[in-house]
Formats: sequence, structure tokens, C-alpha cells
Amino acid sequence: MSQKTIWHEHPVNKSIRSEMKVQKPFVLWFTGLSGAGKSTLAGEVERLLANQNKHTYLLDGDNVRRGLCSDLGFSDEDRSENIRRISEVSKLMLDAGTIVLSAFISPKQSHRSFARDMFQQNEFIEIFVDTPLEECEKRDVKGLYHEARLGKVTSFTGIDAEYETPLNPEIHMQGGTAKEQAELLMNYLYKNGYLER
Ligand code: ADX
Repeated sequence: MSQKTIWHEHPVNKSIRSEMKVQKPFVLWFTGLSGAGKSTLAGEVERLLANQNKHTYLLDGDNVRRGLCSDLGFSDEDRSENIRRISEVSKLMLDAGTIVLSAFISPKQSHRSFARDMFQQNEFIEIFVDTPLEECEKRDVKGLYHEARLGKVTSFTGIDAEYETPLNPEIHMQGGTAKEQAELLMNYLYKNGYLER
């Protein structure tokens, strides 16, 4: 970080922007294996939030890696940089008063703690989409598990790169359809005061 910069507080701040959007901004951080259903669930939740006129943005691994993070691969170092950039973007969007849905494998505890530590305690909700490896591999929507087994794709999470089980997720999703999981998550948001009925 450049030592010669200071954060400038502008007259229009997070609280004014949030008020204009009639919402409290927060980050929903979805973690889990490739093919676990993170993006599908995030998309479903975003649809339900849109029904409530909430302003949202969904940041998704595959999409972000085609632009902002197109220079990054899947080494430990690159994944950390990927998560650092996403966390920073999530923070800026939150500052804009937007509800952010971030869906990234974020395989290491250190990735999730890094992201979490950038926000206030009541602004960050970690959702572990806990779909077993066997199921993700069976789905193999993108054919990448097959390629990883053949050694054509390397450092693939769950095959030859580790996924560290989250220690402290606010929500642990096990089984159920994306619609059911989305309902569960929406109930959590109502129950914990993130959304008002
Ligand atoms: S993360 O580990 O840095 O958080 P991210 O969520 O951005 O990963 O990207 C994961 C997506 O990239 C996967 O869903 C998959 O489609 C694709 N991908 C390509 N190569 C790999 C790999 N070696 N490991 C995991 N995902 C990969």
C-alpha cells in the first residue's frame, strides 16, 4: 500500500447511499467446491432480493476470471490475489449501498478470514455450500473434473488441490434444491434483521 495516501471521506457516504436504496447493505459470501451450486444459489437469492426491490450485485468466479482477474491462474498465490481483489470490490460495492453476493471457491480458511476481516461483523455472512465431492464430480457441469482426473487440468480443487472445510460459516447448506436453500437463506436474513418484512 502506498504510504502517501489517506482515505478521503466524501460528503455522500455509505449511510446516505444505503438510505436512498432503502436497504442495509451486506455481503453474502458463498464458498464450496466447483459445481457445488454456489452460483445457482446466489442467483436464486438475488432473484428473491430483486422481488423485494433490493439493489444487488452478484460476483461470480467464472465471470470475474474472464475480466478483472483474467491474468490469474489457480496457484495458491493467484487464488489469494483473486480473493483479495474480490474482497476489495465487494467492499466498494457495499460502500455504494449495494447488497453483494460473492460466489468463489475460496478454498482456504485464510481466504475466507481475509474477506471477513474487511467488513464489520454484521456485514458479512459466510455460506458454506457443502455439496460432497462425489456429487460435484457426478454433475461435472463444465467437464473440468473429468479433465482433472485425466491430468489435463491441474491444481483442481478437490482433486489435486485442497479445499479446507469452513470453520465458522454463518450458514451451512447441506442438501436441498437451490430454491429450498434460497428460502432458508432469506429466512436467515429476515430473522437476523438484514431484511424487514
Ligand atoms: S478460487 O479458488 O480462486 O476461489 P474461483 O471461484 O475464482 O476459484 O474459480 C473457480 C472456477 O474456475 C471453477 O468453478 C471452475 O469453473 C474454474 N476452474 C478452472 N480451473 C480450475 C482449478 N484448477 N481449480 C478450481 N477451479 C477451476
